[in-house]
Amino acid sequence: MRASRTVTARAQFMLSPVFGSGCLGNASGVPHVTCRICTAQTETILDLGSSPPANSLLSTPADHLDSYPLVLEHCATCGNVQLRDCLGAAELYQNYLYVTPDSPQLQAHYERLHADLRRGQYISPRSFVLEVGSNIGLLLRYLRPQVRKVLGIDPAANICKMAADAGVETVCDFFDPQSAARIREVHGTPDIIIARHCLAHNSDPHVLISAASSLLADDSHLVIENAYVLNTLEQNEFDQIYHEHMFYYSLRSMSALLAHHGFHVVNVFLAAVHGGSIVFVAKRQRAADDVAPAVHERTQHEDKVLTPVTFRHFAANTATIRSILRDLVFDLCSRGKKVYTYGASAKGNTLLNYVGLTREQIPFCADSTAVKQGKYLPQSLIRIISEAEALANPPDYFLLTAWNYRDEIIRKVRGLGNSTSRFIVPVPFVDVV
Ligand code: TMP
Ligand code: ZN
Repeated sequence: MRASRTVTARAQFMLSPVFGSGCLGNASGVPHVTCRICTAQTETILDLGSSPPANSLLSTPADHLDSYPLVLEHCATCGNVQLRDCLGAAELYQNYLYVTPDSPQLQAHYERLHADLRRGQYISPRSFVLEVGSNIGLLLRYLRPQVRKVLGIDPAANICKMAADAGVETVCDFFDPQSAARIREVHGTPDIIIARHCLAHNSDPHVLISAASSLLADDSHLVIENAYVLNTLEQNEFDQIYHEHMFYYSLRSMSALLAHHGFHVVNVFLAAVHGGSIVFVAKRQRAADDVAPAVHERTQHEDKVLTPVTFRHFAANTATIRSILRDLVFDLCSRGKKVYTYGASAKGNTLLNYVGLTREQIPFCADSTAVKQGKYLPQSLIRIISEAEALANPPDYFLLTAWNYRDEIIRKVRGLGNSTSRFIVPVPFVDVV
């Protein structure tokens, strides 16, 4: 059975039990470990123990948040990699504060994405672009002068207000067939739908795809960007595993998902953002020459690389990183060195909780997001401070929990006159720079 309403954005909610899933809180309370794309049986790849929802920050260290398992599963039938246990809205989004950072790296990515879509003729100056999970509208702000019309949809009211204040019209709702029908009535039919880093945030991805399908003409394009499972596995990015990331997509699993809705992938692009991402371009209409060579090349590469051996290496490397990082931080603390983390990212919470680091070793986390400052990381209870505060009283070491912005952050810190703090980079292997 599929969910009647669902969630797609960075902040969208799962509202009901879903298609073949092993969601926590289902009627029996027992996870059925079946693939949520194709319903076949799955196997465990990695077990990271339990952690609280990674984007839920605490107002005081005394606040309580429950922890839930983080177990990764693989479906040999369709290639899907998924989180075994999915949380519902109440657990996942009660203190949700993700705001897309205004980062030069992301701006460069928007430009490149637009150029790639232009080159493939998937977007044009005449396009009406609908972005699902548009957050505060940074991509749409970039696209607005380049196209006929932009519209966002995001369910988080505080986030939609920030987008509206920046002049980006944003429907505050979940993206599902009902809201899609309302969008068609009020705004007309989009020429292209873009969903960046939000499809995996929904335990039932079929709902988003069917909503997109209900809006798009046969020759219009659906663009989905997601962290790429190959990067996650090959770069030992175990900290990408947290409750919002319910799927770890490959071209193979994405193609299997889209095929349920009559879509096929016509192009793929790789991007360096968020630890390595993949952009899938799909449509329904089939033409003899519509599939770019990159799709065939990527399929062949995945067939070679996405094997049980890779999964085993990933699990072994994850355990190695835990023990090295733990020893390093405990050793630094025992020698009186001051260690902070940099970046109150969701992945930082998986990392800290899995490695077993808390405010006992690391009192502060520097982060540029104003709404996060003054709050506490869940479980580790590390207090979030501004970058300026961290700079005024710098540590000997920053554990770089926003390693996806590594060069940008190190450049910023050095540029602000801090030439002494060193950076511990946790992945792909623990490195001190
Ligand atoms: P993300 O990888 O999920 O986007 O999280 C990155 C976090 O790092 C986010 O909370 C913002 C923070 N950050 C800084 O504190 N300084 C920076 O320069 C950048 C780029 C991000
Ligand atoms: Zn499957």
